[in-house]
Parts: sequence; structure tokens; C-alpha cells
Amino acid sequence: MAKVVGVFSTHLYQGSLPGNPALNRALSKDVEDFSAQDKLGQSWSEENYRNGYTSYASLSDMQFRSPTFAKFSDLMQPHATKFAKSLGWELKGCHLRMTTCWMNVMPKNSYHTLHLHPHSVISGTYYVSTPKGSVSLKLEDPRMPMYMNAPVRTRGKNNSHYYVVQAKAGTFVLFESWLRHEVPPNQSASPRVSISFNYEIEEND
Ligand SMILES: [Fe+2]
Repeated sequence: MAKVVGVFSTHLYQGSLPGNPALNRALSKDVEDFSAQDKLGQSWSEENYRNGYTSYASLSDMQFRSPTFAKFSDLMQPHATKFAKSLGWELKGCHLRMTTCWMNVMPKNSYHTLHLHPHSVISGTYYVSTPKGSVSLKLEDPRMPMYMNAPVRTRGKNNSHYYVVQAKAGTFVLFESWLRHEVPPNQSASPRVSISFNYEIEEND
């Protein structure tokens, strides 16, 4: 008798937020207003976020700037905690805290190259607006650097070097911050809008 045993799997946490059409309308309005005034973010994006806008380097504390983003942060918190619990993390005397939260506006052909999120433990993205043609999020198999002479594998579910998370307004995905990911060139005629955020572990008061 013999069997195959799967080990070291990578976990994602996916879900949606309640009341999302109203929440998304309010978030969209904030994204519009804040991005229009964010001159630093606009010039940073021109150099580093081709064709698009991100407040990653300028307004990365949106949860403290806008009541709507604060509400968003409150809605995400139990999910982050649940995810950490599912990962078996021992957070005795500590808790997860959303330390950064920023906006991303991706018109047609804008993209975000492969990256990870240093200095945090859980990262995530929430989709605010995903017009038809909005590109998906691609998560990379974390074992990629070790595939030295690995044979080519038959393509199939759970057998690819990438996992694709469909971008759908009102939904979110959480992952451990070391997991590399990218957003290939967007194909929607109007902008794809998302919010990204990080959690760190902080001691309880
Ligand atoms: Fe990211």
C-alpha cells in the first residue's frame, strides 16, 4: 500500500465584505477625491507605477485619514485574525494591526511587477471596482527558486507555478506577506480600483 501525502501547502483566505455596493461607492468616492489631491503620489506613480496611480508611497495610512477606510479596516480585522488562527499562529499577548493601507487605480495597460510585502506578516487586497476585462492577481509558487531541474508538469488545477485570484468587486484575498505576486497588464477599458494593506504583529496594551 502506498499513498501521496501533500505537505507545506500555501494558504490563502478569500471572502467578501457585507454591504459592498454601498461600501464600494463610498470607497470609490474617497479614492477619487484623495488621488486628485495627492500630487506626491501622482508624481511617484508616474515614475514607478506605469500608466496608473498608487498611494503606496504617499498616502499609505488611509485607514487613519478617512472614516470609510477606517470602517473598511474594522471590517477586515476579524478576517485577518481568523486567517492567522487558521495558520496556527500563536498570538499570545499580541494582535494583528493593519499598519498600512493604500489605493491602486489601474487604467488599461497598467501593471504591477512581481513583488512581496516586507516588514509585515499578512497582506491583502480588496477590490473596489473591477470593470469587464479587469486583470486577475497572480500569486507565484513560493518554491520557484528551488526548481533547479524539475521536470515539466502537466497543466492542471493545483499543478501550476502560478495561482490566479480573480479580481471581483466586493471580494478580498489575504495571504502571508512573503508570497510573491503580480498584476499583469490590465485590460479593462475603465480603471480597475483596489485597496491593498498590510498587517504587523503588535503587543497588546
Ligand atoms: Fe502587492
